[in-house]
Amino acid sequence: MTTTPFAARRQRLLESMGPKTAAVFVATPTAIRNNDVEHDFRQDSDVFYLTGFDEPDTVVVLTPAATIKDPAADPKDKEPKQLSPKLTMFVRPKDPEREIWDGFRHGVEGAKNEFGADVAFTIDELSRRLPELLAAHDAVVYRWGNKAFDERLFSAIALARRTAGRNGAAAPTRILDPIEVLYEHRLRKSPEELAAMRRACAITAEAHKRAMSIAAPGRHEFELEAVMLETFRKHGSERPAYGSIVGSGPNATVLHYRRNDRQLQDGDLVLIDAGCEYGYYASDVTRTFPANGRFSDVQRAIYELVLEAQLAAIEMVKPGVTQGDIHQRACAVLTAGLVQLGVLEGDVDELLKKEAYKPFYMHKTGHWLGMDVHDVGAYFVPTADGKMAQRPLEPGMVITIEPGLYFGIGAEKAPERFRGIGVRIEDDILVTDSGHENLTSSIPKTVEEVERACAE
Ligand code: GLY
Ligand code: MN
Ligand code: MN
Repeated sequence: MTTTPFAARRQRLLESMGPKTAAVFVATPTAIRNNDVEHDFRQDSDVFYLTGFDEPDTVVVLTPAATIKDPAADPKDKEPKQLSPKLTMFVRPKDPEREIWDGFRHGVEGAKNEFGADVAFTIDELSRRLPELLAAHDAVVYRWGNKAFDERLFSAIALARRTAGRNGAAAPTRILDPIEVLYEHRLRKSPEELAAMRRACAITAEAHKRAMSIAAPGRHEFELEAVMLETFRKHGSERPAYGSIVGSGPNATVLHYRRNDRQLQDGDLVLIDAGCEYGYYASDVTRTFPANGRFSDVQRAIYELVLEAQLAAIEMVKPGVTQGDIHQRACAVLTAGLVQLGVLEGDVDELLKKEAYKPFYMHKTGHWLGMDVHDVGAYFVPTADGKMAQRPLEPGMVITIEPGLYFGIGAEKAPERFRGIGVRIEDDILVTDSGHENLTSSIPKTVEEVERACAE
């Protein structure tokens, strides 16, 4: 394990935070599933981004201004050596007994020697050490929402403040969300991050192609899910980037459908929204295809419309354009098409303004993609006049483009022949200097390509 690129990321964060701001990042809490069995652990993305350390019970503390007593100093020493740790890691202790059951732990020495920590403690020392580390800073970067840890951090800050009051030193008075600093970095992908994303996308592409080729009436949704998962793991992906959605027939109209237990019927469309995670980076892809390998006329009409909206939206992606602009474009194409199909009636501009498409297209056209499937980063940024506006895209950002149309079985506003049909098409798009690159372009998408892939 090399400490780069992690050391470079920490350095960049320290520079953006300034000399008086500390930062605290906490491992994903472990969760008991039942008795002594835990849910699968996946490291918190911020912790991994900054250290590459994937063990639970870890706290990462960055402190540009800390001065602490050398923890190795003799307690009787009147003038112990002072240390100025920039990176302190609190980790699980080495434990030969536990390591027999759960596997290797790096421990305190590993955190220092292999992960670049200036100082490391076992996690049980956190409450005692954190106030001293945070003192001399006036703000702490920390992501709210981990209830148990929120309280520990408050206590540490309160303690630091009490001491500071007496000796005139600074102590944190503000908590800053990482969105203002770290997430600006995570939003723009480096070449090594893009390499991981390309790999995730390539594996996901393979999985979608396999699912199309094995699909047939009589198969179950879970069989297609199984082929996706098998392909992910076979190529070294650690896990899916989110719960795979395999919805056939009317299930394709349920946005977060997860049961994946229905048997495919002749005449169904199948919607698969599934992507793998590789090296802690996500892919997020949706394809919709006919279970029997041939789109019906109605299915094809809806599919072609969603595809037209998706291609038009992708075409827009370049630096300076916003995700709001892209969404508007997708909605405009869908609205015009819904009028042509006889689902909506009236003037296209008026219908667009009224958001008349919403009963059939109720989500946004995309989101940031990165370590998290719905990745971090501000969607709105302040303008010169103090208002908030949609953020212009920049090279190195990755977004999804995923329009869809959903006619639920009870969608009374839709012609009866459309009911029970759901279509979404989703690709992962990198913003480049000159425009964009579709990272998932190898997955069949036109009607002809999809029908061919289903026949293979
Ligand atoms: N798979 C989640 C999404 O498409 O946003
Ligand atoms: Mn998706
Ligand atoms: Mn998505």
